[in-house]
Amino acid sequence: MSDQYYRNEKSILVVDDDLSVRALIAEALREGGYPNIKEAENGIQALETFRKEACDLVISDLKMPGMSGMELLSQIKELNPSTPVIIMTGYPTINIAVSSMKEGAFDFLTKPFTIENLILKVDLYLKERSILTEEDLNIEKRNWNLNEKIRKLAAIDSIYEQIEKMHSDNDDIFQKIVMLALNVTGGEKCLLVLFDEANDKFYRKIFQIKGGHSINKEAEGDAMVESLKGFFKKVARKRDALLLNSKEQNGLYGSLICAPLMIRDKVFALITVTSKDAIYNFTRKDLSYMLNITARTSLHLENKLLYESLFGSIMDTFESLVHSIHERDHYTERHSQSVTKLAINTARAMNCSACEIESLKISSLLHDIGKIAIPDKILLKEGPLTDEEYTAIKDHPIIGENILKPVILIDAERKIIRHHHERWDGKGYPDGLSGEDIPFLSRILSVADSFDAMTTDRPYRKALKTDEAIGELQRNRNIQFDKNVVDAFIRLEDQKVGR
Ligand SMILES: [Fe+2]
Repeated sequence: MSDQYYRNEKSILVVDDDLSVRALIAEALREGGYPNIKEAENGIQALETFRKEACDLVISDLKMPGMSGMELLSQIKELNPSTPVIIMTGYPTINIAVSSMKEGAFDFLTKPFTIENLILKVDLYLKERSILTEEDLNIEKRNWNLNEKIRKLAAIDSIYEQIEKMHSDNDDIFQKIVMLALNVTGGEKCLLVLFDEANDKFYRKIFQIKGGHSINKEAEGDAMVESLKGFFKKVARKRDALLLNSKEQNGLYGSLICAPLMIRDKVFALITVTSKDAIYNFTRKDLSYMLNITARTSLHLENKLLYESLFGSIMDTFESLVHSIHERDHYTERHSQSVTKLAINTARAMNCSACEIESLKISSLLHDIGKIAIPDKILLKEGPLTDEEYTAIKDHPIIGENILKPVILIDAERKIIRHHHERWDGKGYPDGLSGEDIPFLSRILSVADSFDAMTTDRPYRKALKTDEAIGELQRNRNIQFDKNVVDAFIRLEDQKVGR
């Protein structure tokens, strides 16, 4: 095939908002032997042309109003991954080069460039393409699509994973999603505002500048809220994310994406990322990442709120139960709180996870809740208990477990409560479990419970001194108690008195 014949066959789309540059390139290509040249003055027009009739090569400027070269590149790759795209820019940076290559650009031309260099590249890519068979192109297309899907899925997966891991308080979650938004979009600044719908007002919650610090960060964040107020209202009203490039918002912040955070269809916050300048215009892919972040975070917060309100009201109910025992028996309430403190400190010293500590906190507070069913004459008896009475008292861990049974949320805690009177040697109750068969947190609860009971005055005996109680724990290492728990507990008591 002669060079001219093959050049006649090829069509090239030249995209540039600068008419003189566009005309110059088109003319040079025609003179270089490519008669079939189409022109477009921006990304949107280029995409329309490309959709009507695909061309063999696209040469596009990077910085254009409406749709940036990067966005055009990403959309052309979606339509036809095997079309080579050459990106031109007057402001080359490594970042631009890397991101356009990542989006699938074939090459890069830095303005001003020579016509010879342009024709050389055009020849090179078109020839390279023309050697490929239909099957090669299909394989390439399939691979591109597959890789693209994998890339997107991997990014979304990582977004989901990072959000799922956020177990901290809401402020911390907001801070983390701001960082996540900056990372996935490559944005420069991120602002999270809370929306007061009743007063139609926005309040700055988090303002973050990537990799840099502003001396007047808070003032800058407030100024940003002020300047984008109108835009925020639009996003909150539409309850949908918006992507704007620099030309559409007076070039104040480069390119900009704003997405709402919603719970039950109500917007409660907005998150906005801005790019450094107009060259780094965000793409539809960035928008879809932001949508994924906000949708997932909204869901996560909704679940968290639901859990907290459910859990909060359950805990309130149980605390009032503990309180009602207190009405009869002043010892139990003080004891529950003191045991909770001792048990948590021991668990921390033994490197328990945050989740385990939370579990232990609930079960310590509620561990004697079963005593609510023990008759006053036994619970409040001042003298020693008869065997029968003692048997009745011994039912309290099982009663406690049963009281909590309807609450599936605290399944793990029920187990801890059931076994808080088991002994390491298997002589405890209610199940006679021994050694490591006893849940670990029950073993901690048991030491804390016994220590507090020993060091408190009871109607039938005087309180032991701290040293005497510690001696008791030591004597019962691996008899009544897990020795490791006893050791950790004693170390903490020693620290308290500076031993
Ligand atoms: Fe108990």
